[in-house]
Amino acid sequence: MNTIGLEFTTSLSCVDAAQERIAPMIDSLLASLPDPDQLTDHERRGIIARYTAVLEGNFIYWMTATYLSVQSPEAHAIIKENLQTEVRDNHPGMLRRFAVATRATSTDLDRRTVDRDLQQVRGFVARMAALDIVLMMAFFEGFIARFMPYLAGLATRLGSSELEYTDVHGVVDVSHTEELYRAFASELAITPDAPPLEKLLGGVALLRTLIATILHPK
Ligand SMILES: [Fe+2]
Repeated sequence: MNTIGLEFTTSLSCVDAAQERIAPMIDSLLASLPDPDQLTDHERRGIIARYTAVLEGNFIYWMTATYLSVQSPEAHAIIKENLQTEVRDNHPGMLRRFAVATRATSTDLDRRTVDRDLQQVRGFVARMAALDIVLMMAFFEGFIARFMPYLAGLATRLGSSELEYTDVHGVVDVSHTEELYRAFASELAITPDAPPLEKLLGGVALLRTLIATILHPK
């Protein structure tokens, strides 16, 4: 096998390894979700409000940081397409409408509840470490896609039928996740002496902690 072929194979197996490492983290977050029928309306609104406090103002900024961090043309193209969808279809506005319709817009307390973990993720994002941040966003998109039915279930239990946000993200984020793993492979292929996978999961761990706080406030 020539060098290029070897690099390509190595990148692909590393992507498989990353997916195998990240998928169980998403599984365990979903398994930890409280039974929506057992929650009070106040608790249902709390999950929506903390989710909105994190996503509404940070998602596009973190994806933009990902765009600025990567170097390969393929990763740039993938992330640009993701950002164009976010901006053109006004996903922050969509999320805002979802939260308003459930009367679950975030309060100062909601923001303070997530603040410490949120600032940790921001500090990580500021390092602009391409491989690490692409994995963090792949984890994020993968979680969001699978979380949407639960989030929609909270909204309908609160009497809302404004489900455009959850309908759209349950679909587009599945392909966005796959594309981000492709971007990871492209970045790996141009990174000589990339660190082992375990050293690239710092952002994933911080974001997992933040999501756990959204779901289970301390
Ligand atoms: Fe979005």
